[in-house]
Amino acid sequence: MVKKVTKAVIPAAGFGTRFLPVTKSVCKEMLPIVDKPTIQYIVEEAVSAGIRDILIVTGKNKKILEDYFDSAPELESLLEQDNKEELLHLCRSTEKMANIHYIRQSHATGFADAILLAQTFTGNDPFAVLLGDDVIYTPEGKRPAIGQLIDCFEENGKPTAAVMEVSDADIPKYANIKGEEDGKNRYRIEKIVEKPAAAQKFSNKAVIGRYVVDSDIYEIIRRTPPSKSGEVYFTDALGLLAKENRLMGCVFEGKRYDAGNKQEYLEANIEYALRDRELSSGMKKYILSLADALRRKQ
Ligand code: G1P
Repeated sequence: MVKKVTKAVIPAAGFGTRFLPVTKSVCKEMLPIVDKPTIQYIVEEAVSAGIRDILIVTGKNKKILEDYFDSAPELESLLEQDNKEELLHLCRSTEKMANIHYIRQSHATGFADAILLAQTFTGNDPFAVLLGDDVIYTPEGKRPAIGQLIDCFEENGKPTAAVMEVSDADIPKYANIKGEEDGKNRYRIEKIVEKPAAAQKFSNKAVIGRYVVDSDIYEIIRRTPPSKSGEVYFTDALGLLAKENRLMGCVFEGKRYDAGNKQEYLEANIEYALRDRELSSGMKKYILSLADALRRKQ
């Protein structure tokens, strides 16, 4: 019997240099999409897929994350005194989302190394891995992306990675797979390579930052040879699983934004604002009039 997935790991130790200078003092996970930090979207996705325990792998300058998911007694009593019920509720809502645990990665030694730090947290349980740069929208009532991967893992008993179709121009940004279709939205992954040049691609199927693995991953990472840079790539560890016919790909349904890229981060802000009940009509008016003005200038 495949064990239920109730734990997740979120690697969040990176410096966020693509967003300098703001990331000099605000970590990238706290950059907001509309009114919530990006990491909250990741935590919400995990929670709505049935995850109860989350380990965030932090690093330098990340204390702000722990404060965010903790109580804020002074602010709360002020809001209480002023009878600001709604704001009080919002303020408290981040505190009880899940059991959130933290561990620090003392050196910036990469993604696979961050996963190794999760071993005491996960023990022998399977777990989900969610990368903070990938924000995935699914409409209300639809199973979140990580839930779709959990379903695939629970059906097959095999570690599963999220798969998405990308253009040739985007091939070098992602892990790339060779695979055979194996049922609806499922791939049996035969090979996976980290960020190849477009000319070296296996296909136009990329793996993005959602995975479900079991505790064998620790032993696999430890026997993965380091890349040329000396870093052991998580993708190469997945490659060993693929070689042993133990890796599945799940083509998830949902709209994914690369929140680590300025253009897509801004697009995410606009689209989430358009979905927001309070903001949507004002935003729509503004965007249409801006589009008119831009067209007139052309
Ligand atoms: C990471 C992974 C890569 C994956 C990508 C998805 O790369 O290493 O395999 O395709 O996330 O967003 P990063 O974008 O952190 O360099």
